[in-house]
Amino acid sequence: MTTISESVDTLFSEAHTAYSFSADPVPDETLQQLYDTVRWAPTAMNSQPMRVAFVRSADARADLVPHLAPGNVDKVNSSPVTAILAYDEDWHEHLPALQPYAQDPHLAWQERERRLPMAQFNANLQAGYFILAARANGLAAGPMGGFDKAGVDATFFPDGRWRSILLVNLGHPDGDSYRPRMPRLEFDQAVRML
Ligand SMILES: Cc1cc2nc3c(=O)[nH]c(=O)nc-3n(C[C@H](O)[C@H](O)[C@H](O)COP(=O)(O)O)c2cc1C
Repeated sequence: MTTISESVDTLFSEAHTAYSFSADPVPDETLQQLYDTVRWAPTAMNSQPMRVAFVRSADARADLVPHLAPGNVDKVNSSPVTAILAYDEDWHEHLPALQPYAQDPHLAWQERERRLPMAQFNANLQAGYFILAARANGLAAGPMGGFDKAGVDATFFPDGRWRSILLVNLGHPDGDSYRPRMPRLEFDQAVRML
């Protein structure tokens, strides 16, 4: 049985951001399992605005590379899969199914200006869950904010409904994946006991 200490090590203490990956493939079943894990994490009103596009093919990767910050190109080229995490601007359309106890819950979210902050906050939260879910399913993850979001959206989501927020390289580590652990803030620097 996995102990609490082993779980904490797998998800946090021993887990690192990966910057390069081995040639070992990531089967589609693993990506499905990753989504099946992350979908259980909580969001406001059970809204679940995050959407995922898994870039697996050489053609899709070639479409992604021009939108990357130069320092991120080799990382994407080395990873078998890069997830484009996005939010759905029209997440409220799913509310009737996601809140079966409520009467027409989507009608309260007709205004786009009200929907967007909810989508952005909760999808960002889900992006954090996504990194942990990847680790929980035995994958190394390398999140990257360094890319042209408008360019990625125009290329991959031309109907304008999904808006990208983060890229996450996924795969298995090679011998050179990890950088030394960076310092973290101490309890007294980041926490107030009130
Ligand atoms: C939201 C986010 C954006 C990031 N963007 C980039 C990026 O564009 N390029 C990059 O090389 N690393 C990027 N990183 C990696 C961070 O620098 C790294 O996770 C952090 O320094 C902790 O490293 P560690 O997991 O090895 O301790 C990003 C991480 C996060 C969570």
